[in-house]
Amino acid sequence: HQPIRRICCIGAGYVGVPSSAVIASKCPDIDVTVVDISAAKVAAWNSDRHPLYEPGLSELISQTRGVNLHFSCDMIGPLEGADLVFICVNTPTKAYGLGQGKAADLTTLEAAARHIVRTASQPKIVVEKSTVPVRAAESICTILRANERPGVRHTVLSNPEFLAEGSAVQDLLRPDRVLIGGERTDEGQEAVQRLVSVYARWVPKERLVTMNLWSSELSKLVANAMLAQRISSINAASAICEATGADVSEVALAVGADSRIGPRFLCASLGFGGSCFQKDVLNFGVPCLNLPEVARYWESVVTLNQYQKYRFADKIIVDLFNTVKGKRIAVLGFAFKKDTGDTRESPAIDVCRRLIDEGALLRVYDPKVASSQIRLDLNQPEPDEASDAAVLTVRLLSCEGAHAVVICTEWSEFSQLDFGRIFASMAKPAFVFDGRNVLDHEALLRIGFRVRAVGKRLDCGGV
Ligand code: NAD
Ligand code: UDX
Repeated sequence: HQPIRRICCIGAGYVGVPSSAVIASKCPDIDVTVVDISAAKVAAWNSDRHPLYEPGLSELISQTRGVNLHFSCDMIGPLEGADLVFICVNTPTKAYGLGQGKAADLTTLEAAARHIVRTASQPKIVVEKSTVPVRAAESICTILRANERPGVRHTVLSNPEFLAEGSAVQDLLRPDRVLIGGERTDEGQEAVQRLVSVYARWVPKERLVTMNLWSSELSKLVANAMLAQRISSINAASAICEATGADVSEVALAVGADSRIGPRFLCASLGFGGSCFQKDVLNFGVPCLNLPEVARYWESVVTLNQYQKYRFADKIIVDLFNTVKGKRIAVLGFAFKKDTGDTRESPAIDVCRRLIDEGALLRVYDPKVASSQIRLDLNQPEPDEASDAAVLTVRLLSCEGAHAVVICTEWSEFSQLDFGRIFASMAKPAFVFDGRNVLDHEALLRIGFRVRAVGKRLDCGGV
């Protein structure tokens, strides 16, 4: 079969750019152009101030950009010349109308398909990399087929992406598996093999898994739903631990030692966040397919997560003597996990909003999230508009005068902090609420802090 020479990736986001950069670096003979409707984003990728932080990505881009990796907002030229098109647009939860709050909003996916038909005068392999509801490929296929020019026949593949933010480049370089779903026709299978031959440059053969289109689409949703379910399961256990005196870290160790369960993804937390888990769990619940029991089962994963976030926020309020009004609280970490600046669905947002509603004065610090993003997520005005704003975002971490330090993200630098000095600068009694169980709780207790963690009771010293 014919080798792939030119790839166009639609969507210059968390998936599109790392995937394209890795392909460009591993396949010097393939020309990769990432296109996006956001001119600002494309300009940022073409500059030295990239729009998102992902470890190792800037290095890859500096090696390949201008060589065989390009960024463009021309939605015609790069598509016209491509043999293969990756669709990497965002597919958020629908915020309106039918299926609001649950179903996927497929506006961007359809727009991408229509960009392709507008330009394609030669046959293309169109690859769904975005996470989509099962059978979305059928809609793409129908739009493509209805607009095909005579003699031009496109093929649709599903190739869902399993990277996690913060480790995207490593995940792409060494994936557990690459899933490629295609139609069981000759042309479908040929397209599968052409895409296989791209990944085969760096991914071991046994990790290249091919299957039918619908299995491939569904596998992605099931994988995310099951990962989210593990976190909600351990978080449910954390509530029982706090009520009984069991320690969730010990429980996770014991449970994870069972080789059928495994140790990863069993860290109790203030709740999971990120742009994928909630959206995909709800999508997997297939509310529209008339499977209410299945939908309810998966919805409970999201319900428990919501409960966990509020349980954490409420513990802060209750432990600070049932009022945080006018109290300064230092919030450390705002991204949904470490090693990313992404705040989509970050549990910190719900926790901070709850505290602001109760009248707390927050000082929020995150090493990678811009102040403007934090203000946007918390609906807070810019500082010059209101001098007594409830949220102050700081580039330098400061806990001066705070009644509590609240850890919302597990940034490694937080465990290196000089908590002796922090304690001295705080109002007393000084509290630490560790929403990620990443600090040395015994050491904090020795300093004099009152320490609260997720899923464990700690001796607070005194009443
Ligand atoms: P993103 O929001 O970071 O990027 C999507 C990009 O697509 C945006 O830059 C947007 O401007 C662009 N776009 C939207 N409509 C367009 C159009 N019609 N033409 C051109 N560009 C358009 O989203 P993301 O986080 O990269 O996620 C993309 C998809 O991948 C989603 O379906 C998501 O569920 C899935 N996914 C995400 C992750 C992750 O960790 N973020 C991991 C695996 C899968
Ligand atoms: C997830 C999937 O892991 C990835 O395979 C998929 O492609 C996209 O969605 P991502 O959302 O980037 O990736 O990060 P992930 O590491 O899965 O973490 C998601 C959330 O769960 C974060 O808020 C994280 O802090 C939280 N988490 C994770 C826990 O609370 N406990 C854990 O044990 C693991």
